[in-house]
Amino acid sequence: MTSPTPNPASALEWFQDDRFGLFLHWGLYALPARHEWVKSREKLTDAHYDRYFRHFDPDLFDPAGWARMAREAGMRYFVITTKHHEGFCLWDSELTDYKVTNTPYGRDLIAPMVEAFRAEGLRVGFYHSLIDWHHPDFPVDGLHPRRDDEEFKAANAGRDMAKYTDYLHGQVRELLTRFGQIDYLFFDFSYPGREWGGKGVADWRSEELLKLVRDLQPDILVNDRLEIPGDFVTPEQYQPSAPMQVDGQPVAWEACQTLNGSWGYDRDNLDWKPTDLLVRMLVDSVSKDGNLLLNVGPNGRGEFEPRAVERLRGIGEWARLHGRSVYGAGRSEFTPPADCRYTQRGDRLYVHVFGWPFKHLHLPGLAGRVDYAQFLHDASEVGMRVIEPAEQAQNTKLGGLPEHTLTLELPVQRPEVAVPVIELFLTSP
Ligand code: GLC
Repeated sequence: MTSPTPNPASALEWFQDDRFGLFLHWGLYALPARHEWVKSREKLTDAHYDRYFRHFDPDLFDPAGWARMAREAGMRYFVITTKHHEGFCLWDSELTDYKVTNTPYGRDLIAPMVEAFRAEGLRVGFYHSLIDWHHPDFPVDGLHPRRDDEEFKAANAGRDMAKYTDYLHGQVRELLTRFGQIDYLFFDFSYPGREWGGKGVADWRSEELLKLVRDLQPDILVNDRLEIPGDFVTPEQYQPSAPMQVDGQPVAWEACQTLNGSWGYDRDNLDWKPTDLLVRMLVDSVSKDGNLLLNVGPNGRGEFEPRAVERLRGIGEWARLHGRSVYGAGRSEFTPPADCRYTQRGDRLYVHVFGWPFKHLHLPGLAGRVDYAQFLHDASEVGMRVIEPAEQAQNTKLGGLPEHTLTLELPVQRPEVAVPVIELFLTSP
């Protein structure tokens, strides 16, 4: 079977306009509260892990509140883990008992979430794990929690991958037929070619699976982790150094990033990124034609913890004033000066100043190309001029500027926003 054709570029329009989404990693691992890989990292048995299933009861879950926070943070789509590697399902699947409706909480989580986020105007995405550390037919490979238990492995040598893959396809069918239009699907992940039992295209029957997805939801965008090409690529926990390419061609991409290095709720983690760094990461993505999918790991009560809420608020304050430089914007042909990022939308060029300079910001190639300059946060004018090569400064010459450089004259005081932005109104060349 050949790979089903990827979506046309037009299907990517909303994605590349919206630029900023919320990733949600939520499952039983919120209870041990020490990373979503805890079952594998600590080689926990099913019998041990069962305590989290028996105590899963997010009594404070308020999807409308989550959706509002996401919208106010400037996020335009969200992606929820329907099932992570642990195998626990957040919806009422007919194909397993290992699902939220059988926990003390007893109700489906996906439908209310989808409804709440849609009501706030956000697009709907699902993350679905290809890996499953609970299913009785998923082979005990080198990532599996029981990988070092020889007795367990011997007793489970007859696991039938084909049966698991039928289950995987069946669950994807459920997810794409029960909740209305799904805009986005993030499969996770392939690890081919490992002698300890890697998995990829043949194991997941990726072509068949992707065809099923496209048949059920023709407009959906699918990521790149089935070991066959999808609609966009997914750099994880790093910012690419340039717009991303596949085989020399530009591709749509989305960096997925955590607030603190863990995707699932991680109580004792201290590696929290400051708000202004998160804003810089969003800007950095857009300046390279990419998106940012920023993760929150809700806790076992069903809440975003205060450190996450504070950061979403801070990003939202910035986004409220600076959305123009992000939504519908992308890379610019112009090259920014050091410590800055450019984004561009039509005739507007946005200078994001990461390191505040003293007074002058020199913009190569922009002399004669800018009609007006203002701060974006308050629409106050920013002075600009072209410094002549021979021009005298106080005692020496303000030298070394290449021809066609436009100089912005900035106030000494840095504006009190996470990342100051200057909006340039371009004239035609
Ligand atoms: C991974 C991890 C993981 C996380 C994800 C997000 O590959 O296994 O726990 O869900 O990527 O991109």
